[in-house]
Amino acid sequence: MKGVILAGGYGTRLQPLTRVTNKHLLPVYDKPMIYYPIQCLVSAGIKDIMVVTGGNKAGDFLELLGNGKEFGLGELHYTYQEGAGGIAEALGLARDFIDKDKVIVVLGDNIIQNNIRRAVADFFTQPKGAKIMLKEVSDPERFGVADVDDKGNVLGIEEKPSQPKSNYAVIGIYMYDELVFDIISDLKPSGRGELEITDVNNAYIRQGTMTSEVLQGWWTDAGTIESLHRAGLMIAEDGANNVD
Ligand code: DAU
Repeated sequence: MKGVILAGGYGTRLQPLTRVTNKHLLPVYDKPMIYYPIQCLVSAGIKDIMVVTGGNKAGDFLELLGNGKEFGLGELHYTYQEGAGGIAEALGLARDFIDKDKVIVVLGDNIIQNNIRRAVADFFTQPKGAKIMLKEVSDPERFGVADVDDKGNVLGIEEKPSQPKSNYAVIGIYMYDELVFDIISDLKPSGRGELEITDVNNAYIRQGTMTSEVLQGWWTDAGTIESLHRAGLMIAEDGANNVD
């Protein structure tokens, strides 16, 4: 299995912090933001990793991370997203790198307390399809929100709904089989002009090949001033990507 970290976009919700640099290079407590998703993949045993970057200061990723030696990696792969056409568009750029493999995708601004080793192992043995991770939150309207039945099956996902059907946010860690790139090729831009990862996930749900699980331990994004601040406080207290 391979890993992809999505670190493109313009980070507009963090202006003016992102006026001259990429969001994922900003500090979260004692490390640049991008360190956490890399550590998340490495601690789950994923060593073949591509970073998709974009926007400002893309070259700084190379200077900061090099071949990933600090994370015990022999090499790191990079690609560049022009513009900010959405999470699914950014993932589509990794098509040749992933080839026929399965892929674990981590959004560059998502940080978790525990590690995902067990969920990744479960997905490894899943014959086909995709897997998402859910977390109960008090502000679901900020996220993709899962409609979940009594047995815990995900019936559908709505992106930032004004009237959420549950409190279960879909966190920014997604596991896909090779079909994901065909699904991305068929996507149409959403109302906000982006190729939405929620549309990819709904395609797997319609096929009946999506599994899900509720994440243990805390999770936060770091894409707004409030959540960036909160992420720093949580890491100062507990660290991140610890063993579960
Ligand atoms: O944090 C989890 C949420 O992330 C999910 O619940 C939502 O379903 C999902 O759409 C996403 O929502 P956001 O609105 O918070 O995503 P954002 O635009 O902040 O992008 C998240 C990361 O994805 C960002 O840190 C970098 C990457 N990205 C984003 C865009 C729009 C790219 O690499 N390229 C892009 O064009």
